[in-house]
Amino acid sequence: MPARIVLGVGAGIAAYKACELLRLLTESGHQVRVVPTPGALRFVGEATWAALSGQPVTASAWDDVHEVAHVRLGREAELVVVAPATADLLARAAAGRSDDLLTAVLLTARCPVVFAPAMHTEMWEHPATRANVATLRARGCLVIDPASGRLTGADSGPGRLPDPAELYAVAVAALARGTAGGGPDLAGRRVVVSAGGTREEIDPVRFIGNWSSGRQGYALARAAAARGAKVSVVSANVGLADPAGAEATHVVSARQLRSAMLAAAAGADAVVMAAAVADFRPEARSDVKIKKTGAAPEPVRLTQNPDILRELAAAREPGQVIAGFAAETDNVLANGRAKLAAKGCDLLVVNQVGPGLALGTGDNEAVVLGADGSETPVPRGPKEALADVVWDLVAARLTAQPG
Ligand code: CTP
Repeated sequence: MPARIVLGVGAGIAAYKACELLRLLTESGHQVRVVPTPGALRFVGEATWAALSGQPVTASAWDDVHEVAHVRLGREAELVVVAPATADLLARAAAGRSDDLLTAVLLTARCPVVFAPAMHTEMWEHPATRANVATLRARGCLVIDPASGRLTGADSGPGRLPDPAELYAVAVAALARGTAGGGPDLAGRRVVVSAGGTREEIDPVRFIGNWSSGRQGYALARAAAARGAKVSVVSANVGLADPAGAEATHVVSARQLRSAMLAAAAGADAVVMAAAVADFRPEARSDVKIKKTGAAPEPVRLTQNPDILRELAAAREPGQVIAGFAAETDNVLANGRAKLAAKGCDLLVVNQVGPGLALGTGDNEAVVLGADGSETPVPRGPKEALADVVWDLVAARLTAQPG
């Protein structure tokens, strides 16, 4: 559904990345009004925003006064996305100031508001910025944690604006939640998601792997971030940009995934194992490439990997919700029920796998089984939709406990 969106742009160099976000929003049919701060126009000029949005661009509340733009734009907006949000802009928004058009719009908007901060690490970590972010989050705004990596100068650390396509995904998720009347119901919660498929090395050039793309796990991470959670994603061999708002740890093998998951799960409210974990690994990894000799090759002897989901469920902290996925080719529901009991988790998303189904595709169809006997069918649809059902079920199980 096309929506009226305000794209607020702060005075940071990452403003150039907001051009890409704007294109993604307009190409999907949304009507976007760009409201840069006056300083942001030093980085990307008015002509660029006007051409890309097909709409007039105003930065000052003193322009087009007869239109009372600061009230109209805020009132009419169905989503406000601020990218990049600088430390100064966060401070002014938290203080409720209205010294330019964007901050005035933020005061008049009653729709979901998403801030994507970008700044140098020191500024992001400063207690003043932390307090401003906490204030905005407490008011129901979604403030996405910045990505880590190379910043404007030679420095690197948390402070980068996430990939525009990832920001777009979070923005449309927040828009959809706002339209459906849902807010950031996971605010104050910390969740951990595993994604992708492990690789078990045979020698320096070969491995045993699987077809998992990581898209379902990343959709879960993104959806949780869009609902206000603090998200850790443990990613096994995923060839996608890190999900916006999530802290990503990259691993290769099942044993590395296990260590990263056990560490991340400590103190978390919910853990979702969406990764496809290799059940077996070669008993021994050759340090050198195994050569053809002309004779029949040596068989690769396998040994069993730890069952991470079972371990997480057995070690679960009081109140922690543990969810897993089950890939089944046949007897889907019966196998799923048996697996839920064997793993000891609270929720198990059961889907059928096979040619063209689930693994490596954009769509998913599933039944979510609950340890309480519940069954929630999820019709075939985007992995984002399944992700939201999983978080609905997790959130319902968390609400009994204090955040
Ligand atoms: N899983 C895990 N550790 C493993 C294997 C699987 O944590 N060594 C998790 C997966 O992340 C998933 C769930 O267990 O959430 C079920 O995975 P699945 O491959 O369907 O089940 P398996 O336990 O491997 O059982 P089987 O292959 O016998 O069906």
